[in-house]
Amino acid sequence: METLNQLFENNKAWAGRIRQEDPDFFLKLSRQQFPTYLWIGCSDSRVPANQIVGLLPGELFVHRNVANLVVHTDLNCLSVIQFAVDILKVRHIIVCGHYGCSGVLATVRGDRLGLSDNWLRHLQDVRQRHEKYLAGVTGDADAADRLGELNVIEQVANVCQTTIAREAWERGQELAVHGWIYGLQDGLTRDLGTTVTNCREAFGVYDTAISSLTEGKKARVS
Ligand code: CO
Repeated sequence: METLNQLFENNKAWAGRIRQEDPDFFLKLSRQQFPTYLWIGCSDSRVPANQIVGLLPGELFVHRNVANLVVHTDLNCLSVIQFAVDILKVRHIIVCGHYGCSGVLATVRGDRLGLSDNWLRHLQDVRQRHEKYLAGVTGDADAADRLGELNVIEQVANVCQTTIAREAWERGQELAVHGWIYGLQDGLTRDLGTTVTNCREAFGVYDTAISSLTEGKKARVS
């Protein structure tokens, strides 16, 4: 049977490199974490949260699932958001999708994957909501990229509608929710112009982000 020795070797080398730069790094980190950001991204192995934004252990709180969905009743995702906002007091929540997402592409093509079709049903809801716009996009790959962008904007709106975000804003806690999309082909993230910093602006920001996308404005690399 294949062993995982290589992974243990990698781990030792990695820990050694970090200790060489800062001998107390792990000791300090074991006592407390102070992440400023919560990352909600896709599980895809090509989208490693910390590396993409160049952050060390302790600096980024992370939740990942297939197609970076924030489902209203997903206790797992909601618990991560609640812990991040209420306990760790993160200042930013970043929902990051990516181009070339297999889950999004399967949704566009109507592929049958198995159990995960039920999870991706939430993405079908997004697709149906924007059916008119997506019908005008040619080719599955482009349609998937546009749906991937729309999905991020929708998931940002979902974060903003959670009791967690709303209550944080009500008590005056500083919290911004952002929507990004990452390019597998160039390693760069793009801001989808859907940053929300309080309850009142959530719907306006959503409308603007959706219309700028559907009017053909390309997501920009900051
Ligand atoms: Co993906």
